[in-house]
Amino acid sequence: MRGQPIGAPTGVGPDPAHEPDLAHHGDAEVGEGLVDLAVNVRNAPMPAWLAEPITASLADLARYPDPAPARAAVAARHGRPPAEVLLTAGAAEGFVLLAQALRGVRRPVVVHPQFTEPEAALRAAGHQVERVLLDPADGFRLDPARVPADADLVMIGNPTNPTSVLHPAADLAALARPGRVLVVDEAFADTTAAPGVPGEPESLAARRDLPGLLVVRSLTKTWGLAGLRIGYLLGAAPLLDRLAAVQPLWAVSTPALAAAAACAGPAAVQAERAIAARLAADRDHLVARLSALPGVRVAGRPASAFVLVQLSGAAAVRAALRERGWAVRRGDTFPGLGPDWLRIAVRDPATTDAFTEVLAQILEA
Ligand SMILES: Cc1ncc(COP(=O)(O)O)c(C=O)c1O
Repeated sequence: MRGQPIGAPTGVGPDPAHEPDLAHHGDAEVGEGLVDLAVNVRNAPMPAWLAEPITASLADLARYPDPAPARAAVAARHGRPPAEVLLTAGAAEGFVLLAQALRGVRRPVVVHPQFTEPEAALRAAGHQVERVLLDPADGFRLDPARVPADADLVMIGNPTNPTSVLHPAADLAALARPGRVLVVDEAFADTTAAPGVPGEPESLAARRDLPGLLVVRSLTKTWGLAGLRIGYLLGAAPLLDRLAAVQPLWAVSTPALAAAAACAGPAAVQAERAIAARLAADRDHLVARLSALPGVRVAGRPASAFVLVQLSGAAAVRAALRERGWAVRRGDTFPGLGPDWLRIAVRDPATTDAFTEVLAQILEA
């Protein structure tokens, strides 16, 4: 089903001859012996408060999973009743549930560039998807007026993968209205926590007043649980009931539920903030190093665990980096980006220094 024709774009149109491969993801770019700057999953030892409940859950695998305790824990974290939480096998499952449950929508719009699975899931379910393409010249800033007024499903990421742009909560809230489902993918929201600012600055996760709002969260990134598959949806109970009705039985395993409960606790939230503070310093370092390179332009104001850069001949640069042992994410598979873009994961300063030195040598050659 994937690869069905797309609807007319509302932004700069996709060129059918150069239609990006929505099924391409960073994990395909990582290879034996390469330093991975392509995948946005944090690579760090698992803390005991997370490892212990996951390990303990293995003693219970003969029983079918019971999501109730994890659901209650996630709900408490976000100040919502449990009926406003649906646990999923990663954020990715959430997009499929949305696409399957909301078959009646007439004008689904995806704001790009962004993670490609939301559009891929919609297309796989037979939806005709329209795109709003944000403008690199404007730092990929969202102008809510660009979204067609009669769009009854709108999907946007915040902070956005791959641009790393964090949209103001007020701009996103302006997109919510009766008769529309507004999906905000907050898979990386925890990476935006800032010292001295309570919570996650532009998150809508606790907002219960916005009609049709559905927030998508992932626990696979910061906690290095991509292989465990755990995420969740937050929204009004009747909407979540529709999505739950198309979810496979027992979709989230007992170890994944143990992880969800642990990641909703105070130790996790505190640790997320410390990780985000470290990340901000590491990101500043990467941005400074990249900005010093001739011909390299950092997009927007990066706010997450990765940075998007524009440089001409990016495909050849990426190939040369691979030869020298470095994997970065190609940008041309994201609608709205072309061949001149690369996404680079934020890592520790020593890794960044080694990487940017190699990149400088390639650019000089
Ligand atoms: C923006 C964004 N949302 C969602 C996902 C999917 O995350 P999960 O591993 O929870 O399915 C990804 C994975 O790369 C992502 O980048």
